[in-house]
Amino acid sequence: MKRDSFGSQIGALLAMAGSAVGLGNLWRFPYLVGENGGAAFIIIYIILSFLICLPIFISEFIMGRRSQKNAYATFKNLSGGSAWKWVGLFTIIVPLIVLSYYSVIGGWSIDYLLKSLTFSFSDMAQQNAANSIFTELVTSTWTPLLAHTVFLLVTALVVVVGIKDGIEKFSKIMMPLLFFIVLAIAIYVITLPGAKAGLDYLFRPDFSKIDAKACAAALGQAFFSLSLGFGTIMTYASYVDKNDNIMKQSTATALSDLMFALIAGVAIMPAVFAFGLDPQSGPGLVFETLPYVFGQMPAGGLVAILFFLALLVAALTSSISMLEVAVAYLMEEKKFSRVSACVALFIFCWIIGAVCSLSFGPLSGITIGGNNIFNFLDTLSSNVLMTLGSLFTVIFVGWRLKKTDVYEEFTNGGSLSANVKLFGVLWFLVRYVAPLAIIFIFISGLI
Ligand code: PHE
Repeated sequence: MKRDSFGSQIGALLAMAGSAVGLGNLWRFPYLVGENGGAAFIIIYIILSFLICLPIFISEFIMGRRSQKNAYATFKNLSGGSAWKWVGLFTIIVPLIVLSYYSVIGGWSIDYLLKSLTFSFSDMAQQNAANSIFTELVTSTWTPLLAHTVFLLVTALVVVVGIKDGIEKFSKIMMPLLFFIVLAIAIYVITLPGAKAGLDYLFRPDFSKIDAKACAAALGQAFFSLSLGFGTIMTYASYVDKNDNIMKQSTATALSDLMFALIAGVAIMPAVFAFGLDPQSGPGLVFETLPYVFGQMPAGGLVAILFFLALLVAALTSSISMLEVAVAYLMEEKKFSRVSACVALFIFCWIIGAVCSLSFGPLSGITIGGNNIFNFLDTLSSNVLMTLGSLFTVIFVGWRLKKTDVYEEFTNGGSLSANVKLFGVLWFLVRYVAPLAIIFIFISGLI
């Protein structure tokens, strides 16, 4: 049977951008900026994104498109069947773990979308009220479980249809929608009185706030946001046409991801400042601080609906990419049909996700290193596992693959003259700069 593939270059691009743009942009980026001192963090983030993460993105792209197979087989085949295949297996399993808790947050956004549709946030007079709505949701048993189920089900339903008709079509409709919603909110928020303080916070750097921890956080966020180290980009790249331009596609994805993060920052921070709230409220920023802000803002009810719709759409276009990694693996290596792979993985992720969901309520007594199970998995995967996956990928491309093969894939056999010129820089970044920087930043973030 012919392997499924993306139908067009723009479709492939929107699917990759869909994977990249997610909760990482709308939920994680703004609160990290808040916690790490605003503009200076953004500058570090941009530098790391392009100097380190873009070369890793391109590395994953090269591997996937060269092998035209799932991530496990990519590592196995390109290394000639050595122990690298275990790295391949690692990149299959990690996204499943992330998908499991990601789906719980996706579920929260469904619940918040429903709440905003009934205008539950309008006239919210006190911040405490918003906090307790959130606490009540996450600590309860059934509502978040149900929402997690619905989110995961929609994810599986898109993936079950396939690459061209499922993932690509979905991304082609959702990404433009997402863009217009987020942009509209940002423009509206800038016009609010008092918004200027928020913009200053975002765009006036204070470098005294930048230390090793902030750099490590920026790098971890850039990995997360670009879906790196997870086999996702590799898997999507395996469905990309051999004539497409890897450099262009990768840069366009990285730029759109950055643009979404910045627009999300502009949509959120000025609003937070305009109502005199603390930007450093951490992960609760989107679910606790914002609903209160929406409650105070003129036409806030409508803005809340749009915002939580955007959050949900962004989360879905990312979750489908995580699921596809393992679906491709089960289909190609274990001879599952697409349907049975989706069913099996739905059950697997549902169970882990359910445990994560309950870890705020009935299972909150179980802690690992002071974290509940949800936070433990989030920290472990975004701070450690993604870093490891990305490190292995650049080392593989820079030191295991043949330089001529990398060159051939990156330049489409020497036919793309701009890529031919850029190759030397890419090779240097992949071989030396990226691995050393990852190791250095990772270690210094630990101490
Ligand atoms: N990049 C996604 C986000 O920003 C998360 C993600 C990570 C998606 C890894 C796929 C793989 O939310």
